[in-house]
Amino acid sequence: MSIEQLESIAQAMVAPGKGIIAIDESNTTIKKRFDGVGIECTEDTRRAYREMLLTTPNLSDHIAGAILYDETLRQSTRAGVPFTKVMLDNGILPGIKVDKGPHPLAGFPGELVTEGLDGLRERLQEYARLGAKFAKWRAVITIGDDMPSSTCIEANCHALARYAALCQESGIVPMVEPEVLMDGSHDLEVCYDVTEVTLRSLFASLYEQNVMLEGTILKASMVVSGKDCPEQASVDEVAEATIRCLKASVPASLPGIVFLSGGQSDEAATAHLNAMNQMGPHPWPLSFSYGRAMQSAALKLWSKDMDKHFGDAQKTVAQRARENGLAALGQWKK
Ligand code: 13P
Repeated sequence: MSIEQLESIAQAMVAPGKGIIAIDESNTTIKKRFDGVGIECTEDTRRAYREMLLTTPNLSDHIAGAILYDETLRQSTRAGVPFTKVMLDNGILPGIKVDKGPHPLAGFPGELVTEGLDGLRERLQEYARLGAKFAKWRAVITIGDDMPSSTCIEANCHALARYAALCQESGIVPMVEPEVLMDGSHDLEVCYDVTEVTLRSLFASLYEQNVMLEGTILKASMVVSGKDCPEQASVDEVAEATIRCLKASVPASLPGIVFLSGGQSDEAATAHLNAMNQMGPHPWPLSFSYGRAMQSAALKLWSKDMDKHFGDAQKTVAQRARENGLAALGQWKK
């Protein structure tokens, strides 16, 4: 695949007023979400839940792509149509989570490094054959006493860059996600500093590994106060600090930036994105790639009665997509 094709996929992922829905929870993570609403986690309940999400009528009005987990990429609707076909027929790009999750970083208690590079070339080639157009790799950066270490940041950014280069070799657009966790009592400025140093390290690593930024999407965490910080920054403070941080560390040649929700409430995730876009124009489109902030209301509803609430749960997904799509344009109103 040519760089032009990678570029056009990357641009489609952040088309005006559109974002990404992240439904790539591993079987362990989706079990936690299902446990929270009292649903048994089996291959078929996972399939049925993802069918509800992916067949939401007119989803593509505000959703450009969906990130899937390996199992989901291979599943089909109840009627036997592969999810990837449903998506491509409806103008939604299939994405695939390819990392093997964060693991303890040896020698650095409390810190994590994401694994999954072994055999990645072959897995990506298979995913491309199965219809994946973009991929995701999530690194986790923890803030705490003497954390993060530069070793943790560099090890994660090196892996992100190796992954990104392998994706492009297989004709898949890499979404690079260095998530700075919200956990902790640190303030906004600490989150700013950690995010900036992480993004600078990431773009230095991408450069070293010959990754074409024009065919890459950044999935970033917002600059926010730690969850347990007594003083919580306002919506405008979060938006201003996040924009300042991105401008200080992300090259303008990147086709777009999408945000994770990271445990923010649905409304906060939408309000922050909207405020950032109202402060534009910026060097890149800023949109969303939310997991929880796109799904949690729908999951709650669906869990009460999977058949009876199927349509209402889909309406809830469509509503979250619409609100976040408006926020991606800076046109959302509370
Ligand atoms: P949240 O929006 O729930 O943080 O999930 C996004 C995601 O894909 C994290 O990797």
